[in-house]
Amino acid sequence: MSFPRAWINEIGQYEGQDVELRGWLDNRRSSGKLHFLQVRDGTGVIQCVMFKGDVSEALFQEADHLPQESAIKVRGSVRADARSPLGFELSVKDLEVVSRAEPDFPIGRKEHGVAFLMEKRHLWLRSSRQRVVMAVRHTIIKAIRDYFDGHGFRLTDAPIFTPAACEGTSTLFEVPYFEMGKAYLTQSGQLYGEAAAMAYGKVYTFGPTFRAEKSKTRRHLTEFWMVEPEVAFMDLDEDMDLAEDFLCFIAQRVLENHAKELASILERDVSKLETVKKPFPRITYDEAVKVLQAAGNPIKWGDDFGGDEETILCSQYDRPVMVHRYPADLKAFYFKHDPTNPKLALGVDVLAPEGYGEIIGGGQREESFDTLVARIEAHQLPREAFEWYLDLRRWGSVPHSGFGLGVERTVAWMCGLHHVRETIPFPRMMERLTP
Ligand code: 4AD
Repeated sequence: MSFPRAWINEIGQYEGQDVELRGWLDNRRSSGKLHFLQVRDGTGVIQCVMFKGDVSEALFQEADHLPQESAIKVRGSVRADARSPLGFELSVKDLEVVSRAEPDFPIGRKEHGVAFLMEKRHLWLRSSRQRVVMAVRHTIIKAIRDYFDGHGFRLTDAPIFTPAACEGTSTLFEVPYFEMGKAYLTQSGQLYGEAAAMAYGKVYTFGPTFRAEKSKTRRHLTEFWMVEPEVAFMDLDEDMDLAEDFLCFIAQRVLENHAKELASILERDVSKLETVKKPFPRITYDEAVKVLQAAGNPIKWGDDFGGDEETILCSQYDRPVMVHRYPADLKAFYFKHDPTNPKLALGVDVLAPEGYGEIIGGGQREESFDTLVARIEAHQLPREAFEWYLDLRRWGSVPHSGFGLGVERTVAWMCGLHHVRETIPFPRMMERLTP
């Protein structure tokens, strides 16, 4: 018998027809003359019902002892069943064991601690929960590309090995680099994005970035993905307009594609994403400090916001909030200072609601050659490593701005996950390098 191969997420197309499913045994339960086999193929899970009389006695016995995660091909007819979560079941006519799993799959039905699950991440990815998280991650990455491609931005890949810091010297990963001695893993593609913006007008870089973060928080990874648009002749206000429009687009895409499974499998309250609509509130750092103090937080003007402050601030709004004009002392060397108050940097952080905190950091860049040279010195950065960057101010310097969105924090927010460790297939943190 040759049955056409079907995928579980498309099974509805085959109602009443015979198909072959190829996947893994996710779970099994029996009652007398019936086996209920939950089969997973990576796109979903379907219940396959095997009647004793429909298959040979030997096969019926084999199915009764098949360990979880055995790889199988199941052939049968697709039947609509309103009681099943999928809406369809398979009536089994034949089953072929491709590889019999060892008994005792480590991730069973019982609750496991996160430390254990992280250790078994390569197997944990098979769960329905992780399937949905990875599907949302995929959609977010696709939406990011579609947004910028659809708005005429040129994709420009930034290097991973870099000669100098972009985001402060305290979180650099150093690697040996031939006769030159050492290189650093990139913290951000921004400086290269700026060069590309002067060449192509509006650009984005998108790739993995690295920070030797010594903090063990729910928001920090040592390796994370960042998308960074950069636009020539764009000021801070226009930068905020772009960030706002972009985030609304992503949230809409996630809702269109995943509302049902977010709610049913991750128990995400998707109404919280429906409010991600323009306009987002825009408040200055000064105003944010007053909001925090009014909420009883001991923050003083000039202090940076930590996780606690971000949580309080973003919880005041039902959509992302943009906090702009931070004290310049808190910010990297490349920020343009506010001409009306040079103590302030023309930077913006976008904080996601529900306690998720900062997902975007960006701002307007310093375009003056002399000011930038002074800034590089004040930040004690090696000028030689930035000569190429200074060239951008020597030849045709213009006001320009951009931002960086962290993919993992965005996935955590959209999926309603407490910690970023579940938002990337194989997370890297201070204490985690395997699997
Ligand atoms: O605010 P950051 O440090 O900004 C930059 O790197 C700029 N060069 C971006 C630009 O203007 N082109 O980081 C931007 C975003 C953060 O808002 C956050 O979402 C994410 O990157 N991020 C991290 N995500 C996970 N783990 C970490 N350790 C992160 N550090 C930053």
